[in-house]
Amino acid sequence: MTKVNCLNPISELGTGLFNDNYEMTDNFADADVALVRSAAMHDLDLPESLLAIARAGAGVNNIPLDKCADKGVVVFNTPGANANGVKELVLCGMLLASRDIIGGNKWVDNNTDNENISKDMEKAKKNFAGNEIKGKKLGVIGLGAIGRLVANAAESMGMEVYGNDPFISVEGALSLKRDVHLVKTREEIFKECDFITVHTPLVDDTKKMINKETIAMMKDGVVVLNFARDLLVDDEAMCEALASGKVKKYVTDFPNPNVAGVEGVIATPHLGASTAESEDNCAVMAVKEIMDFVENGNIVNS
Ligand code: MLT
Repeated sequence: MTKVNCLNPISELGTGLFNDNYEMTDNFADADVALVRSAAMHDLDLPESLLAIARAGAGVNNIPLDKCADKGVVVFNTPGANANGVKELVLCGMLLASRDIIGGNKWVDNNTDNENISKDMEKAKKNFAGNEIKGKKLGVIGLGAIGRLVANAAESMGMEVYGNDPFISVEGALSLKRDVHLVKTREEIFKECDFITVHTPLVDDTKKMINKETIAMMKDGVVVLNFARDLLVDDEAMCEALASGKVKKYVTDFPNPNVAGVEGVIATPHLGASTAESEDNCAVMAVKEIMDFVENGNIVNS
């Protein structure tokens, strides 16, 4: 019997795939395999019984990879399984940064009893006027599953799209629409684009890649989007850039107290992959990986 512990609630569409040879346990210390979403595992002692950890998501920075390597614990993730969910929220972020849906909605809520609403609405329409994204330049840094979907969708919406990823596979490059321009350096994106969205993992080379120096290269009034990892952006530099107007909007999927509430910030609590569909896809993929490993010894996406 293989004992499975879920450190976060995992969609039943996935856990329902386990057959009678698996038993769910609430006790991590007793587990043979663990399923995790975003729970930080760095401070946990890995039990001797543990064979594998499957992350229902793409990034593995909540998992103590060194400890796992020392103990021979295999780590799986689910690249691409939540990519569509994240892509849709990135598109939503670009639109929110361009059209004042949030301000307009507040205005309507505050004017439910306004007898002069038709007259006042004309003023509101002027106050909340925005811009279209069609024809604007979008730079996508990191062309993994999410970055590529964002690039292709934005191109379909009429944006001029530039992508950078030194590690893109041939298959990945071929999946991009023909009009998505691949550029060799991030600098080209920093200098040219009206919108910049980051989709890289958090590694030494990408940590705080949006910082004072790189922001200085950007166009005035640029919109920066971060649905990948909070630490890709230097908070202090971002706050300064928002105050000066260099950055018009910072759309971030992280509830970081250093930027939340700052004028120009649109923040959400890491909702990119929080759709029923993405949660199901990640859970199914993670459980299939675990079962394939336990039953056939196969190791994929590790
Ligand atoms: C990921 O790395 O795929 C995300 O952090 C997913 C999530 O929100 O769990």
